[in-house]
Amino acid sequence: MTDKPDDNTAPRPTTLEELVRWRRDVRRFRRDPVPDELVDKLLRLADLAPSVGNSQPWRIVSVKSPEARAAVTRNFEAARARSAETYDGAQADLYGRLKLAGFDAAPVHLAVFSDRAALQGHRLGRQTMPETLDHSCACMVTVLWLAAREAGLGLGWVSILDPTGIETTLGVPPDWKLVGYLLVGWPEEEHLDPELERHGWQQRTPFESRFSELTSAGGAPSSKPAPAVGSVALVGAGPGDPELLTVKALKALGSADAVLYDDLVAKPILALVRPGARMIDVGKRGYRKSCKQPDINAMMVTLAGEGLKVVRLKSGDPLIFGRAGEEIDACREAGIPLSVIPGITSAQGAAANLKVSLTNRDHARRLQFITAHDRNSRLPADIDWSAVADAAATTVIYMPKRTLSELAEIAMAHGLDPKTPAIAVANATRVDEQVIISTVGAMAADLGAAHPEGPVLVMIGEALRSANAAEIANAVVSTFGATELT
Ligand SMILES: Cc1cc2nc3c(=O)[nH]c(=O)nc-3n(C[C@H](O)[C@H](O)[C@H](O)COP(=O)(O)O)c2cc1C
Ligand SMILES: C[S@@+](CC[C@H](N)C(=O)[O-])C[C@H]1O[C@@H](n2cnc3c(N)ncnc32)[C@H](O)[C@@H]1O
Repeated sequence: MTDKPDDNTAPRPTTLEELVRWRRDVRRFRRDPVPDELVDKLLRLADLAPSVGNSQPWRIVSVKSPEARAAVTRNFEAARARSAETYDGAQADLYGRLKLAGFDAAPVHLAVFSDRAALQGHRLGRQTMPETLDHSCACMVTVLWLAAREAGLGLGWVSILDPTGIETTLGVPPDWKLVGYLLVGWPEEEHLDPELERHGWQQRTPFESRFSELTSAGGAPSSKPAPAVGSVALVGAGPGDPELLTVKALKALGSADAVLYDDLVAKPILALVRPGARMIDVGKRGYRKSCKQPDINAMMVTLAGEGLKVVRLKSGDPLIFGRAGEEIDACREAGIPLSVIPGITSAQGAAANLKVSLTNRDHARRLQFITAHDRNSRLPADIDWSAVADAAATTVIYMPKRTLSELAEIAMAHGLDPKTPAIAVANATRVDEQVIISTVGAMAADLGAAHPEGPVLVMIGEALRSANAAEIANAVVSTFGATELT
């Protein structure tokens, strides 16, 4: 996880595999126009699609007339109402709520027909399998779909239509049969899972259930035995030093089929993953936006649904400030077997290198881990300030970077002595670990001045007074802090 709030956009694909996984049938469009030149460019690309005998049987009508659009929309609504009657009970309710097209908002409407009388290709291939003309049109649509998504556009394929009505409305030749009505525009949202999965209509099913092998001539194709459904393991990667992984975590990494990892997971740990496993960065910062949590849940469930052993790799311990609860719920709901492999949380890694007892019995009656960061990147409103101000407590503050000065001010206003030792540790247990020794009153300024790169936590409490700066590599002792501490 990153210590920043959810972004509204899933990562844009940079490889063909990512594009295919991310494509989606889009039904929620923004209304802004799509330049004609872009549509033209995409259609010309799609026109290069494969076709039986090189027949190129697709005929594409760009429907711009408002009257024709209104007639197509009415056609859809009538077809949808007829389909609704075929469902009962809860399924009928759900069908009624599904969004199955986006006629109103989509700026581009394309009707695609298959010309069953196409002369091009001299009927090659079609004499035995005439339906391959229509299949060729679907190939063209698929290329268009991917090209549109690659350009950032959404495409929705509408088939809940009476085709004869559309053919009449658009006045096409009698041999043109409707293949699909495509809506194209800028998507309002991005998702990694199909809308129909997200709304509980139907999950995708394992690849193996559609794949069989014929191993002897004349024998019937034997379906592979139904795969054991895959699994998800939430694995703690620890604070960074790979030697702090548990043996169980190491085994899970060594046998994973897919690893979904956060940006705080240290690179040397990723190197321990089984070669050949699919590596999916779900928390990358920088030019790509972070994945939204629902998309991570969906991806985990989908990959496990395909029969894969999925490792969800999180920094530190997965159950400590790691949004594991939402991922556990998603697996439970999808019936995916789930396990949790604990990791060393960053507080423990940091304390070990400082060689301080967080529960030193002369000073600490309580050890508490708090977050300084709510889902809106602000200091949580409901912190128990009397607990933070408790002189007999050791408090470890996760995600303190943005809000530390406010937190310290409020804690001091609740009675915490400004001279209480405070230690910030950046990149705990990693080669670039940095330690800042200061006091509650001065830490926010000292941390701001040191401005460390990478994850940081701050510990406060009398128990930390035994930290010995001389023993700690890369320790920065603030003049103010040093004076106060010694
Ligand atoms: C031939 C075809 C016809 C489709 N017709 C509709 C439709 O009428 N309405 C709709 O909402 N989605 C339609 N879809 C989209 C599918 O529902 C969607 O592709 C499927 O749920 C998988 O989701 P994904 O495309 O986001 O992976 C159609 C897709 C195909 C390939
Ligand atoms: C979303 S939380 C994840 C915590 C993680 N599950 C754990 O148990 O350590 C991220 C925060 O953990 C802390 N953190 C994680 N790794 C760290 C490290 N190596 N050094 C210092 N702090 C770290 C930082 O406060 C960071 O902002």
